[in-house]
Amino acid sequence: MENFKKIVALTGAGISAESGITTFRDSGGMWEQYDVMEVASIDGWHKNPQLMLHFYNERRKQLGEVEPNDAHRILAELEKDFDVTIVTQNVDDLHERGGSTKIIHLHGELTKARSSTDPNMIIDIGNNPIEWGETAPDGSQLRPHIVWFGEAVPLISTAAEIVSKADILLIVGSSLNVYPAAGLVGYADRNAKIYLIDPNEVAYSGRNITMIREKATTGMKKFKDEIIII
Ligand code: OAD
Repeated sequence: MENFKKIVALTGAGISAESGITTFRDSGGMWEQYDVMEVASIDGWHKNPQLMLHFYNERRKQLGEVEPNDAHRILAELEKDFDVTIVTQNVDDLHERGGSTKIIHLHGELTKARSSTDPNMIIDIGNNPIEWGETAPDGSQLRPHIVWFGEAVPLISTAAEIVSKADILLIVGSSLNVYPAAGLVGYADRNAKIYLIDPNEVAYSGRNITMIREKATTGMKKFKDEIIII
């Protein structure tokens, strides 16, 4: 593995769109249907935790009804020829189910719950709901293992270190709107090759980047064909 090129894939909601999961900021996206501060912020949790439990219970249930798509699968297949690490903003488990083995979930995971007082007390819950009154082993209310707006992103420095070692940085399906995740691109080495797959224009002002203006599945096929001959 030592001589293999290191690929770091920075993924966002767009990679799971073709699996049937709604993105956040596209037209008809999640944040047109819901008030982000009511359902995905720490203030929202303090104001109306039952509403937030319901929102994430619905997301978790839906996740059990969808499958990974070819974009997730191609990323997993690339592990045969490359050292691939995925840094995802997604809270779904489609990279895992697609077969990838090195995945950092910057914004947490839907299939896990945690103590509302101890961020390190985390339990697997699969696709099951979290009920109001259901407690963690420390007696506190269980909450989704999600990093909400207004909270720190504990894995950001680990992710920045990983991005800085990439030979190839691949960005798939993220509007690059949410910080600190979007700022990770700035940690890429000046010699790293950067690709961005997205069917829509992504406001990116930075170094030379190869844009692949396709949906994730088609874009990943093109990306694979291009890098396999590098
Ligand atoms: P966004 O919804 O902001 O951006 C999704 C991106 O995917 C857009 O650039 C779309 O053009 C693109 N897209 C749409 N369909 C696609 C497809 N089939 N293939 C490829 N790309 C496609 O989602 P994120 O950037 O992931 O955080 O959002 C970042 C964070 O904001 C999320 O993790 C979430 C959200 O609020 C929290 O909830 C904490």
